[in-house]
Amino acid sequence: MSSDDDAKDLATEHMVDYDRHSHMQSNLVRSRKEWLKFAVSKTGLQSPEFRLLDLGCGPGHTAIEAVKPSIEAYRQLSPDGTIAVCHGDQPHNDWNALFALIGGKSGYLIDKNIRTEASVGSFYDVMASPGSVSIATCFVASHWLSRAMLITSPGTVWYADLTGDARSAFMQLAQSDWTRFLRSRAIELTSGGCVIVSTLASIPDPNETNGIRGSARHLYRAIHKVAAGMVDDGLLSKEALDRFIFPLWFPTVDDVLNPILENDDLAAAFDVLEASVEDAAVNPQDAYGDYLAQPDEYAELYAGYVRGFGESSLRLHLFDRCAATQEESDRLTHAFFERFEALYRKEPGRYASETLTLTLVLQRR
Ligand SMILES: C[S@@+](CC[C@H](N)C(=O)[O-])C[C@H]1O[C@@H](n2cnc3c(N)ncnc32)[C@H](O)[C@@H]1O
Repeated sequence: MSSDDDAKDLATEHMVDYDRHSHMQSNLVRSRKEWLKFAVSKTGLQSPEFRLLDLGCGPGHTAIEAVKPSIEAYRQLSPDGTIAVCHGDQPHNDWNALFALIGGKSGYLIDKNIRTEASVGSFYDVMASPGSVSIATCFVASHWLSRAMLITSPGTVWYADLTGDARSAFMQLAQSDWTRFLRSRAIELTSGGCVIVSTLASIPDPNETNGIRGSARHLYRAIHKVAAGMVDDGLLSKEALDRFIFPLWFPTVDDVLNPILENDDLAAAFDVLEASVEDAAVNPQDAYGDYLAQPDEYAELYAGYVRGFGESSLRLHLFDRCAATQEESDRLTHAFFERFEALYRKEPGRYASETLTLTLVLQRR
C-alpha cells in the first residue's frame, strides 16, 4: 500500500449527464423538506438577509429542490425580507445548466427580493464569508472524499470491503475530510444558523466486513464482478483493478458525530439537533425496484445511475490506466457498461442497490 502516490484528481471530475440519472438523489432531496422547514424555524428571522448555502449543489433540478422548501418556510416568517441563495460546487460543475434552471419556470427567481450567487471551490474549505450563512445544506455530496486515492485494494472497489492498511489509510482521509467539513461550516454559519447534511450512509451489521453495512453494497460488488471479468478476458490489467477504489465514504452515525465529541472547538461550536441513519424514504431495498418486471429498463437505469456518478472515476483511474489511447479507453468504458447492463438484465434484483440515508442537523451556537 502506498499513500504518498495518492491520485491528485478531484473525486468527481467530469460527472456524466447528472440530471438524467439522479433519480435516487432527487428522492432523497425531496424527503428532506420537513427538516428544512424545521431548520428555518430554529434559525428564525435573519438580518440583514436570510442566506442559504447549498454545498455540492450539482448542475440539475435537485439544486432547486434543495433550496425551495427553505425559501417557502422563510417567506412564512418574512414575506418580503431579502433572501440570498448561494450554490456551492467545484469548478467543473455545469454552472450554465444550473443557472438556466434557476432562472427558468421551475426556478425560484420569480419570488421578489431573492438574489442568487455561486461559490466555486471545495466544501472541505470555507465557501462563504464568516458568520454569513443562515442555513447550509449538503445533499448526496459529502460522501465524496476530497481526492481520489491510490491504495492496494484487491477484491473490491468499495471502501466498506477494505481491510488492513488499505482500510486504515482510507479511513484516515475520510475522517480528516469530515472534520474539515465541520470546521468550515462552523466558520460560515451565523450564530443560531443550521447545517443539514443528508447522504448515503452505513449502519452496524455484524455479518458484514468491518461490522458495517453500507448503502449500495450489492451494486459496488457487481461493479467489481464486471471489472474482474474484464481482467479475466484480458481487457483490463489486474494491477490497475487492484489499485482502483471509488473515493466514496458512507458514514455511520458514530462516524459523523466523532469529530464533534473528540474536538473541543467543534463541541463548542455545535448543538446536535438530529443524527440518524434510516432506510431511504423511497425504494430503500432496490433503487429501481419499480422496474423489476421490465428487465431491459431495470438494467438500463442501473447502468445509467452508475454512469452518472461513477463513469468519471472509472475512466480516470481504471480504464485510462489500461488503455494506450483515448479511443481504447472509450472502448473499455463501452465494454464495461455493456457487461454491467447485461448482468442486471440477466438477474433483476440480485444486485439491487439498497439506500440508507443519513440525516444530520447541527445548530451553530
Ligand atoms: C451526486 S451530486 C449531488 C448534487 C445535488 N446536491 C443532489 O442532491 O442531487 C454530488 C455533487 O457534489 C459535488 N462535490 C463533490 N465533492 C465536492 C467538494 N469537495 N466540494 C464541492 N462540491 C463537491 C460534485 O461536483 C457534484 O456536483
